Amino acid sequence: MAEQPILEVKDLVKHYPLSQGVLFRKQTGAVKAVDGVSFALGKGETLGIVGESGCGKSTLAKVLMNLERATSGQVLYKGEDISRLSGAALKAVRRNIQMVFQDPYTSLNPRMTVGDIIGEPYEIHPEVAPKGERRRAVQDLLDVVGLNPEYINRYPHQFSGGQRQRIGIARGLALKPEIIICDEPVSALDVSVQAQVINLLDQLQKDFELSYMFIAHDLSIVRHISDRVGVMYLGKMVEIGSDLEIYDHATHPYTQALLSAVPVPDPTARETRDRIVLSGDIPSPANPPSGCRFRTRCWKAEDRCSTEVPLLAVPSLLSGPAAHASACHFAEVRQTVTT
Ligand SMILES: Nc1ncnc2c1ncn2[C@@H]1O[C@H](COP(=O)(O)OP(=O)(O)OP(=O)(O)O)[C@@H](O)[C@H]1O
Ligand SMILES: [Mg+2]
Repeated sequence: MAEQPILEVKDLVKHYPLSQGVLFRKQTGAVKAVDGVSFALGKGETLGIVGESGCGKSTLAKVLMNLERATSGQVLYKGEDISRLSGAALKAVRRNIQMVFQDPYTSLNPRMTVGDIIGEPYEIHPEVAPKGERRRAVQDLLDVVGLNPEYINRYPHQFSGGQRQRIGIARGLALKPEIIICDEPVSALDVSVQAQVINLLDQLQKDFELSYMFIAHDLSIVRHISDRVGVMYLGKMVEIGSDLEIYDHATHPYTQALLSAVPVPDPTARETRDRIVLSGDIPSPANPPSGCRFRTRCWKAEDRCSTEVPLLAVPSLLSGPAAHASACHFAEVRQTVTT
């Protein structure tokens, strides 16, 4: 991994204003979808981002892509803040950061051929593949993602879910980006197909030196692909560290709870493992708890947790224990009870 991060996110905030009234709209607060998130992504690295539904993962992705404007904070791409860019400057940066979406059924236009879908980015960036070379470029992309180049004139409904996601990945690759943000790219697929798509993403990363941000609900999915993992809860990053640190030495109670819910294939380990069942629902991001946001569901919570926001130490790109940070006043490795 390179020393210099390819992408650096500093104290990123995205609030969606809530308003009331039809005629005289009055702002009555905000959904704090992303609320002060910082991390870095190294070249060629895969950073997994996990957390329950509504914790702000997709909002984070959209703000990074500049599909949504940040409320505040910075997104540095090779040192340049891209969160305020517009026009030609934004277009130039966008080429290098692409996204693969969750649902291969709805994210592909059913009326367009696969060739037109994959080649669409060239309409905006003709310099990457001039008109005369586009068909050839799209056929190459089909081949790269493991689809028959002769399928170029087919329509999305003629493909299976896994094949459609391959089409989405081919489109993401069309402009030869450096970073791909995968927002739950396999969640809508059958388990048997998930591994194939993940293996493909893995191979593409090696072949094209891609950096990935890989978003998922489930720690078990990101494990196979991530070098590092960040855990989000209610708009905050609560723990970040290398794959090994997070899976074997998690110190945030929320991460520990998520880990305890990951299916274990070994029956003995399954029996001896004590599962943490979180009480209560996730609070509303429009009205998060004071202090630590996780305290209302945390078995370790004390008075201090309601008054003092636990900070996440500045994440480092280094691997190993030094790069492990946890936003908990009582962070420690959990002693699993084995009886
Ligand atoms: N355009 C919007 N306007 C208002 N609120 C929004 C908007 N987009 C997202 N939100 C809210 O922001 C919060 C975070 O949503 P987001 O989609 O980022 O979560 P997520 O972690 O991706 O969830 P999931 O796992 O279900 O995809 C949610 O409470 C959501 O309702
Ligand atoms: Mg989402």
